[in-house]
Amino acid sequence: MITKPKGTYDVLPEEVGTWVKLEQMIRKICQIYNYKEIRTPIFESGRVFHRDASDTSDMVTKETYDFLDRSNRQITLRPEGTAGVVRAFIENKLYATNPLNKLFYLGQMFRYERPQKGRNRQFSQFGVEALGSADPLMDAEVIALGTSLIKALGLKNVKVKINSIGDKESRERYKKACVQYFSEYKKDLCEDCLVRLEKNPLRILDCKVDRNKEFFLKAPKIKEYLNEASIQHFQKVLEALDQMKIPYEIEDNLVRGLDYYSHTVFELEVDIEEFGAQNVIGAGGRYDSLVSDMEGPNIPGVGMAFGMERLLLAASYGGKSLKANEYLHVYFIALGEAAQKACLTQMNVCRLGGLYCDMDFLGRGLKAQFKTADQNKAMFTCILGDNELSEFKINIKNNETDEQETISLYEVYPYVLNKINSRSACASCKEKEVK
Ligand code: HAM
Repeated sequence: MITKPKGTYDVLPEEVGTWVKLEQMIRKICQIYNYKEIRTPIFESGRVFHRDASDTSDMVTKETYDFLDRSNRQITLRPEGTAGVVRAFIENKLYATNPLNKLFYLGQMFRYERPQKGRNRQFSQFGVEALGSADPLMDAEVIALGTSLIKALGLKNVKVKINSIGDKESRERYKKACVQYFSEYKKDLCEDCLVRLEKNPLRILDCKVDRNKEFFLKAPKIKEYLNEASIQHFQKVLEALDQMKIPYEIEDNLVRGLDYYSHTVFELEVDIEEFGAQNVIGAGGRYDSLVSDMEGPNIPGVGMAFGMERLLLAASYGGKSLKANEYLHVYFIALGEAAQKACLTQMNVCRLGGLYCDMDFLGRGLKAQFKTADQNKAMFTCILGDNELSEFKINIKNNETDEQETISLYEVYPYVLNKINSRSACASCKEKEVK
């Protein structure tokens, strides 16, 4: 048997509905916050992600799917959305028509990671990127959008953890302090951190191996090295969050696993035991140099991304039900070949009129067909045998009331339409109306 690649998964028909609901929820929230959708390629030129030899993030150094195409072009499957969106932003000069571009995207990302619960090699992200504003209120808006999604999904126990890694000047000062401090502990550092010490000492703080060791906890904190402008920026972000009554926790050691950040960085953490180490459901930050680093103009940006699998997993632990309300308006049951043909004609009329319909295509008996009508949650079942057909009539059963009537064969469509659209105004009845 040919099986799926490690770290991937199939979304089977009964699960697709929850994905569609999540996507609808996300689109609605983006509309509320006035973010516009952008769709960029799943693969990009390798340079989009491998920009800088000094980049020490695991994602860029160890986890990308890189290959040469048939014309020897270096290609990378996107491991995240930000760099591709920024590439498209620059290439299409979106800044020329709009001083502030608030964008969102949904799509598959690829990282060669060790798969475990909530961590896949192909996974889906919902992300937003606001390009054009250096205002701290923009950072706060992005976080607010994230918390709106959490609320809409009914997720409890989600914490916003936030920190500032300051501007370039602050980071340079802090880097020096880190190098000085950690150089004393070279023998205690893990292999990755020894490389980070050389290339990007800030990222030592992101180490999963050493983070709880004493020398680590006593390391200098970035907040002690922020310059006035960086302190001001961070302060304003926190004030804006306070104003919007969004709770947060300042986490001194939060630096994030990607190298492009400046000033605000944040993570949304869910407190569900089964999540283990994969409890960060969304994360982001400001990246004021990424556009210029990618050969674009000097335009600041801030954004965040959620792992959609993690959102769905979190929702399944006491969040709102995302179960799709699937149903049919009519299921046609035919007894015999002639009846089957007549059903096909009537079903076609109903379908052209927008009703959700189906019938049996397996030549099965009455009982099996009733069962299928039931499984499909058909609101009406039409039953046609030779006797009814000879009189151009059909039996129709309302499965909600169990009432059964015999009507003209040609009246199925207006009959069902009228019954459905004249029901009481409850939400679920409204949803099933034919527009
Ligand atoms: P990230 O932290 O690498 O940030 O990923 C964002 C989210 O994607 C994570 O919090 C997690 O929920 C999900 N995720 C990451 N890797 C996996 C995986 N292997 N399997 C399942 N879910 C995963 C970024 O990607 C940045 N581009 C976010 C951003 C946008 N920053 C600014 N703008």
